[in-house]
Amino acid sequence: MRPSHAVFGALALAFTVPTAATADESVVGGTPVRVSQSPWAVALASHDRFGAARSGQFCGGVLVGSSTVVTAAHCLSREVLGVPWQQVGDLRIVIGRDNLSRGGGQELKPAKIWVNPAYDSWTNEGDMAVLTLQKPVRNRPIPIAPHEDTAYRAGNAATVYGWGDMTGEGTYASRLRSAEVNVLEDAVCARAYPGNADGTYKPESMLCAGEPGGGRDACQGDSGGPLVVHGRLVGLVSWGTGCGKAGSPGVYTRASALLPVVTGHGAG
Ligand code: ARG
Repeated sequence: MRPSHAVFGALALAFTVPTAATADESVVGGTPVRVSQSPWAVALASHDRFGAARSGQFCGGVLVGSSTVVTAAHCLSREVLGVPWQQVGDLRIVIGRDNLSRGGGQELKPAKIWVNPAYDSWTNEGDMAVLTLQKPVRNRPIPIAPHEDTAYRAGNAATVYGWGDMTGEGTYASRLRSAEVNVLEDAVCARAYPGNADGTYKPESMLCAGEPGGGRDACQGDSGGPLVVHGRLVGLVSWGTGCGKAGSPGVYTRASALLPVVTGHGAG
């Protein structure tokens, strides 16, 4: 298995300094946000697999219906979890917790898990999974931007959220952070990722976002988390080469690709 891509489960909402010597992984900053402002941003966690610190967080997720959470398929892969997801007995969805090192909010058990069987770990196509909660929560879900929504337009300002690695070296955030990026033309990612070791950009099912010259970006551990434009979900953090590197934008699962599956799972 190629160890490189979407797989290393830890994120880092990042803000790189492109001029730094170690620019390729040098992630700094991002801004702390309150989960009350973004109640649909959730964390996936397992104490068994990832320890009790930071609530056992290993990926992000998004509440898109009162009992429906979406995330990246690769978050539930053996590469991330070390074992098949069916063997993780304490997989939890953490909702409404500002600081993962403290309590608050709820830790919920998924009643049902669907991992896209068509997920291709080589191209990273179809990087999506749906977790159904045992009962509805009152936290506000975020609407998914439908296909052809203007939210997907290149040039739009977008915000990515996560509890991932803030340094590119495994310094994970305890508090939810967000970073402002731009939706980029598909051509930018098609040029950057024509079929690399990290993946292949497919515009029908992926979305390209970042800073043209490098800079703010998602990073390891942010996977599965939301990319938002005008209050609508446009993407899930999926993959990229490094974090915030010039010429290597972030690649997201295009949120509209989730609509058929989420509707199929009865999300409202
Ligand atoms: N695959 C990573 C994860 O599992 C997310 C990587 C996103 N990278 C980026 N440069 N936007 O958390």
